[in-house]
Amino acid sequence: MTLDCPSLAFPRDFLWGTATASHQVEGNNTNSDWWAWEQQGHILDGTRSNLACDHYHRFREDFALFAALHQNAHRLSLEWSRIEPTPGNFDREAVQHYRAVLEALRRLNVEPVVTLHHFTNPLWLSAKGAWETPDVLDVFGRYVAHAVDAFGDLVRYWVTLNEPVVYATKGYVEGSWPPGKRSLFLLRQVLHNMILGHARATRIIRERSPRSDVRVGVAHHLRVFDPYRPVLPVDHFVARVGESIFNRAVLLSMLKGQFQFPFGRGPVPEGTNALDFLGLNYYSRDMVTFDFRYPRSYFGSFFAHPDRPKTAAGWEIYPEGMYRVLKFLGQFDKPILITENGVADERDELRPAFLISHLQQIHRAIQEGVPVQGYLHWSALDNFEWAEGRRLRFGLIHVDYDTLERTVKPSGELYAKICAAGGLDASMLGANT
Ligand code: FCB
Repeated sequence: MTLDCPSLAFPRDFLWGTATASHQVEGNNTNSDWWAWEQQGHILDGTRSNLACDHYHRFREDFALFAALHQNAHRLSLEWSRIEPTPGNFDREAVQHYRAVLEALRRLNVEPVVTLHHFTNPLWLSAKGAWETPDVLDVFGRYVAHAVDAFGDLVRYWVTLNEPVVYATKGYVEGSWPPGKRSLFLLRQVLHNMILGHARATRIIRERSPRSDVRVGVAHHLRVFDPYRPVLPVDHFVARVGESIFNRAVLLSMLKGQFQFPFGRGPVPEGTNALDFLGLNYYSRDMVTFDFRYPRSYFGSFFAHPDRPKTAAGWEIYPEGMYRVLKFLGQFDKPILITENGVADERDELRPAFLISHLQQIHRAIQEGVPVQGYLHWSALDNFEWAEGRRLRFGLIHVDYDTLERTVKPSGELYAKICAAGGLDASMLGANT
């Protein structure tokens, strides 16, 4: 299995792994706003998370399988609604569970990357407006402090928040995720509070972690926005607006410790130097046209390129975008961890080539000096894909939702070879051209 000399070799200490999120894989997360949302019938294919992958009970076997597939890192999230089921009461059993989870990874020499907030909120928090009001800061801080005290010795890489802009856009512009509101005012408030929450969490992690090598980051979703009609300046203009709101404003607020328009003004309290590494979630590109019909999206219409290959989610497959967003992040002189990248693909037809083409682009960026330290593929297992339900399969490992049986897909075997070799060999590159 081991290749002597990969043609595209990655750095020696590169982290090779996969990513998941608690609600998508654990099952029975009954105490969160997402569970309630599912019961209200909002999921497009009519499914619910229910037992999901039952990873809550099967994590040991799952981790053993990931390690056998030569993965040396794994990103997971802590389920706040399990850890703090009622305000201020921390559940001992849940805390013990996550210690067992992290210890299991450490025993297998798999580096954990731990997300504190991946879209779900405890029900009691959503009843108080979740991230809409600044009250969230103290309760988030209290939860983070508890998590760092309980797990800090086992965790080097903390991710404070997953995709703040996606969370806020889906929940407060599209209304397709909880709380299902449509308000640009609330969108701004939520993101403002998330910027503050990130800074608060960073300070707490640095103060309380017993590890001198602790690193704090955020998992930020970056997309490429290109004008669909390059000859038209208005298309360029709306593409730049989309980019600055989606890609730049929140990230730069965190990086610079200064709020960026339109999410506030002035310095971010506690926000100086609030990122040790940049977590990148990259999936696709949007083409953009100027369109009077969409004042709520700053007169931009955003869509997948009609003539290019697409995933089962309808997203364009655009590997060069990985290179482009890495070059963008490279300017900030921070280590970069690719915290998600993957493809919705029912029969594993697209995933092998997707993996290779995206890794090629990552390698290209590394060659040009972009400090990428690891790649965590989304996802380890097929899982519950939020509003899309179970229709979209993102796993390197197939999950039979009736029996919960796991089967490694061809792409999972391919990724194992890549992880073992620390890069791509000539035969893989040939297969992709
Ligand atoms: C990202 C989410 C992740 C998963 C993938 C497909 O936006 O962070 O939970 O749903 O998309």
